[in-house]
Amino acid sequence: MYSEKVMDHFNNPRNVGEIENASGIGTVGNAKCGDIMRMYLEIDDAGVIQDVKFKTFGCGAAVATSSMATELVKGKTVEEALKVTNKAVMEALDGLPPVKVHCSLLAEEAIHAALWDYAEKNHLVIDGLQKPVNDIAEKEEDAGEDY
Ligand code: FES
Repeated sequence: MYSEKVMDHFNNPRNVGEIENASGIGTVGNAKCGDIMRMYLEIDDAGVIQDVKFKTFGCGAAVATSSMATELVKGKTVEEALKVTNKAVMEALDGLPPVKVHCSLLAEEAIHAALWDYAEKNHLVIDGLQKPVNDIAEKEEDAGEDY
């Protein structure tokens, strides 16, 4: 049911880990399945993503999509990274079963959340970037109220 590429990225995920003092960190979660994804971006002064790492506490498709998403945004400008949609990630993986489409959305949102964090830290406005709805960074900060 999964493509070879999905299995490859699930078994050998690329860019797993953390970046210390990252330019932007995004944490998103899916309330239904409970899966969580965190994306770290290292962005240089020219706005180019030099490095990207992720951690995913979630299903196999979430691991595979976040792995592929990191490969797609690495070396790109912030504006180009914004155009890496969940559809693009799915295409790069040769598709996902319909019930797993939401997992790829998590990857897109994690990138957007990390870009949002980067923009906020640097007082930038990135055209077309909106605060991701499933950004759970703030909820984590006042944990205890919502959980
Ligand atoms: Fe939730 Fe895949 S089942 S991200």
